[in-house]
Amino acid sequence: MQALPIFMNITHRPCVVIGGGEVAARKVATLLKANAAITLYSPEICTQLQALADDGKITYINAEFSENLLTGACLVIAATDIEAVNVAVSVAAKAQNIPVNVVDSPALCTFTMASIVERSPIVIAISSEGTAPVLARYIRTKIETMLPAGYGRIAGIAGEFREKVKAKFTTVQARRIFWEGVLQGPIVERIMAGQEAAARQALDNLLSEKSAPQHHGEVYLVGGGPGDPDLLTFRALRLMQQCDVCVYDKLVSPEVMELVRRDAELIFVGKSRDQHTLPQEEINALLARLALEGKRVLRLKGGDPFIFGRGGEEIETLMQHNVPFQVVPGITAANGVSSYAGIPLTHRDYAQACLFITGHLKDGTLDLDWVAMSRPRQTVVIYMGLVGLAEICRQLIAHGVSPDMPAAVIQQGTTQRQRVVTATLKDLAEKVDLAEMKPPCLTIIGEVVQLREKLNWFEPANYRAPHNDSNSS
Ligand SMILES: C[S@@+](CC[C@H](N)C(=O)[O-])C[C@H]1O[C@@H](n2cnc3c(N)ncnc32)[C@H](O)[C@@H]1O
Repeated sequence: MQALPIFMNITHRPCVVIGGGEVAARKVATLLKANAAITLYSPEICTQLQALADDGKITYINAEFSENLLTGACLVIAATDIEAVNVAVSVAAKAQNIPVNVVDSPALCTFTMASIVERSPIVIAISSEGTAPVLARYIRTKIETMLPAGYGRIAGIAGEFREKVKAKFTTVQARRIFWEGVLQGPIVERIMAGQEAAARQALDNLLSEKSAPQHHGEVYLVGGGPGDPDLLTFRALRLMQQCDVCVYDKLVSPEVMELVRRDAELIFVGKSRDQHTLPQEEINALLARLALEGKRVLRLKGGDPFIFGRGGEEIETLMQHNVPFQVVPGITAANGVSSYAGIPLTHRDYAQACLFITGHLKDGTLDLDWVAMSRPRQTVVIYMGLVGLAEICRQLIAHGVSPDMPAAVIQQGTTQRQRVVTATLKDLAEKVDLAEMKPPCLTIIGEVVQLREKLNWFEPANYRAPHNDSNSS
């Protein structure tokens, strides 16, 4: 290690920046985050810096560099594109024992600026000691994806409870054990889910417990998206990797299931059309029971839990049992599948509205608002509409939609098994039949479907067209 990593408090302290271009602006932005009192000297400045000066966030002085500008500064940054000026700043700062950074010139620096991952008050600084700043930034982006945004809030609340914890646990070791327990438990999840009042209450309860803290379970109701695991949210992935048990259904793709923590218990609760492996009420009760046993339960659903996902019913039961839970949205099939099929759901020229409809048959019949579905200049997206497809097309035509209206059915969208059949309303059902499309399939009806011809971009690797499947791609 050639440089000592330290964090320097420069709040309201005089910092000098020499240079007025975009590089200087980036350094100024970092100094401002640390609440520095910045004076910037340069014969000219970019609009971004001028705006900061106009807002009174920095002091700008139109001047060429001279040694005396550094008097009293606690830190200096040179960001000019004139080598002689940068050298002069470095020499002058070193002579006055002022820490100096010259952008992209490690030899002229007495300190370098780190790449920063900020979850204030937690700050991670990454340095390559000036040798490979691009690599340092690359490492930074890796860490960014690993650290949930809520870590800063955890540190804030830990800070609030520091004195109380100190008062309760007199030894450093006892405090360490307490905090480690908290950090691995459900309180942290409460904070990250934005339930800070509940987290504070839980910490207070924990501190007032006479006996060892009990381990309470919780439920994560997580949207697993339409199939491509790259479409998971950071939060979904984090919770998938920390659960004790995963309750999942048919729609969750095998690729997404691969990412669930290896040693978590997996419980399949089925759910395909007309054949519910477990009735919904039993799934609701199962989730509550597992959590009350102290487990971290991942309820993993395809798409988004609140869009044709019955997620609302599941959390209602959890509420009744006082089981803590959080809901993590997922990309719903309409969004994911239409994107991967090259069909924008709205378009200035074709559709100003979009309807999400369930085509699930109730008692073998379809009870849909055909008038609303038949309006012009909109896109209709139908979930679970494969079985009733012929009837849907017939009804829309009967309610005034053109038989030539473009339409598509997409099977297993976003996955490497994606198949798309495009047609018109009058021949969609027949073509879908011929192509032997199987659930899960999403139907999109509207002028926007014709855009697929131009906008199709996704080429699933594993797709092989069956011989009678000339219109699917
Ligand atoms: C019970 S609904 C669940 C919807 C889910 N909660 C969502 O937000 O996407 C199941 C229906 O979603 C649609 N679906 C889900 N994933 C799909 C995919 N990858 N490709 C095509 N359709 C999909 C199908 O219409 C399927 O029958």
